[in-house]
Amino acid sequence: MLNEERNRTLTQVGRGTPMGELLRRHWMPVAGVAEFDDTPIRALRLMGEDLVLYKDLGGKFGLIDRRCAHRRADLLHGYVEPDGLRCSYHGWNYDATGRCIGQPYEDIAHPELNAKDSVRITAYPVEIKAGLVWAYLGPAPAPLVPDWEPFSWGNGFAQVVISEVPCNWLQCQENSIDPVHFEWTHSNWKTRLAGRTGPYAPTHLKVGFEEFEFGLVYKRIREDTSEKDPLWVIGRTCLWPNAFFLGDHFEWRVPIDDENTLSVTWSFMRVPRESEPYVQERIPAWRGPTVDADGRWITSHVMNQDFVAWSGQGRIADRTQEHLAPSDAGIVMLRKRLFDDLKALEEGRDPRGILRDPAKNLAVRLPVAARRALTEGMTRAELLAHPQFKGMLADYVFQAGQPRAVRAEFERAMGLIPGTGQFAS
Ligand code: FES
Ligand SMILES: [Fe+2]
Repeated sequence: MLNEERNRTLTQVGRGTPMGELLRRHWMPVAGVAEFDDTPIRALRLMGEDLVLYKDLGGKFGLIDRRCAHRRADLLHGYVEPDGLRCSYHGWNYDATGRCIGQPYEDIAHPELNAKDSVRITAYPVEIKAGLVWAYLGPAPAPLVPDWEPFSWGNGFAQVVISEVPCNWLQCQENSIDPVHFEWTHSNWKTRLAGRTGPYAPTHLKVGFEEFEFGLVYKRIREDTSEKDPLWVIGRTCLWPNAFFLGDHFEWRVPIDDENTLSVTWSFMRVPRESEPYVQERIPAWRGPTVDADGRWITSHVMNQDFVAWSGQGRIADRTQEHLAPSDAGIVMLRKRLFDDLKALEEGRDPRGILRDPAKNLAVRLPVAARRALTEGMTRAELLAHPQFKGMLADYVFQAGQPRAVRAEFERAMGLIPGTGQFAS
């Protein structure tokens, strides 16, 4: 349980709030690079700030205020130029640092005023890594965008999926340290959604939580596993401050504002040995729907089930009313670490998990249960027998709505017969 004030402290993300400042010390993935192939400008609300993210005609990304400094027109309806974004109202042009670099009328009629020199709008640095556009909204000097090791794995098919979830970021992130929910939110709910009343999945017997440099690892033993199982030996990872890493995919919970979160997933599937070498030219990115055409929550896929659970806790979960149990030990640790980090920030220190040394930020190793399968590869036969990966050949299991074109690219990469989930002989 948290009292009202402490709940507010952890959930408010606006500039100047304690948690808002802490989150601003970390780079956040905010969009897929591929999303800008045919849409050069996207609106982006981030931690309560309304911005536009664009790719100019020179191929450079910029993240600037959504409003033009002149008379507040919406830059979402601007147009990109060789070096920046131009407002479509009177043509003021901005570069990626937020400097106004052109005021067409004033530049010609009143060059002596140098009027544009005094105009600057909010702008934030962006970087590209792993097919994602990353943004940093904190004070200089910015740390490094984490170079997590899966980003440089070869012979695989990565994809980025983004969804908006109507609730606060923290309840999404608390799910990153919640082993027992797998049994009920995914395995058993899936059984019930299919109209069956059982049998239910093996139940959890023991959970454990450990801290490491970049987060918390949780471990679990179910009726069907022992302390020798990768679920216990390796576990899964809650990354500081707002991500989840499961060996083959990352999920970031990026605050849009106090009541909405951008779920950003990067997932990787190694191609079978028979399809090596495979070089992915472009990491596709797509937006995953959360509701169907009738406005009902989609519950068919793993993360869609999570979205329902998180949103069901309310826009901002009222933690004054909760009853934490022993299975929530990781959640207690996570909250405590966030409060420790707030204190570190107050004292002028970096929070946990900030990378500033380039020599250290090289393919940073994380716990990966299926490391051999992901880094050395498997034959088709091994893949078909693998408990974790075989199901991924038939469907993108994490989220509903994968576009056909992405599925087709995936099938080509894996060597699958289109539409079958089977390998070509
Ligand atoms: S409002 Fe943007 S140039 Fe006038
Ligand atoms: Fe889940």
